[in-house]
Amino acid sequence: MPQYIKNPPLLEADLAADPLTQLDRWLGDAESAGLHEPTAMTLATVDAHNRPSARIVLFKGFHDGGLTFYTSYVGRKGRELAQNPHVALVFWWDKLERQVRIEGRIERLPREISRQYFYLRPRESQIGAITSRQSEVVASREALDRRYDDNVARYAGEEIPFPETWGGYRVEPRVVEFWQGRLGRLHDRLQYTRDGSGWRIERLEP
Ligand SMILES: Cc1cc2nc3c(=O)[nH]c(=O)nc-3n(C[C@H](O)[C@H](O)[C@H](O)COP(=O)(O)O)c2cc1C
Repeated sequence: MPQYIKNPPLLEADLAADPLTQLDRWLGDAESAGLHEPTAMTLATVDAHNRPSARIVLFKGFHDGGLTFYTSYVGRKGRELAQNPHVALVFWWDKLERQVRIEGRIERLPREISRQYFYLRPRESQIGAITSRQSEVVASREALDRRYDDNVARYAGEEIPFPETWGGYRVEPRVVEFWQGRLGRLHDRLQYTRDGSGWRIERLEP
């Protein structure tokens, strides 16, 4: 079992007043540390029978006090989010021995924001987005590749149409916890909770 000895103490006095500012600092540290996917975050959703599921998505920036990511609106997570907007997110940066947990509500980003982001992506990804019926069973890899190639041929020399069924989400946090490993499992846990227009910060037992 590893001991977590890297981190200097995480003190209340060092924290930003706003958890998204604090998250931005820790994301900066993760990027500077040269991690492979510093923006990867686990997204947990809940279905209509209250059963949770989780998968990784890539954080794509802050928008209007929330965290954004992009995906299909009609895949499994998209369907679950249409029924239940309560989500949890987790970042884990192993080299830094740091975790961030977020709970909040989700909503779709404005279409224009999603459209702009769609056209910033590589063309292959645009074609992938119109090709994939995310979370459906597919007969074979070949069937999927054929559909992709058909779209490559169909839109050769043309703009890829912006898909109705794809776009961004914004998670508005209600609770955000910053965790870092410390010796003897006496880890630091500092939790922000929405309190009116501001945030309450409390230390949790490890
Ligand atoms: C590192 C990593 C990054 C990923 N980023 C995304 C993403 O930004 N958007 C997305 O839709 N899926 C992303 N995926 C794939 C998802 O984990 C998942 O397979 C997909 O979204 C389908 O999930 P669903 O069936 O629950 O809707 C990523 C997977 C990994 C491992």
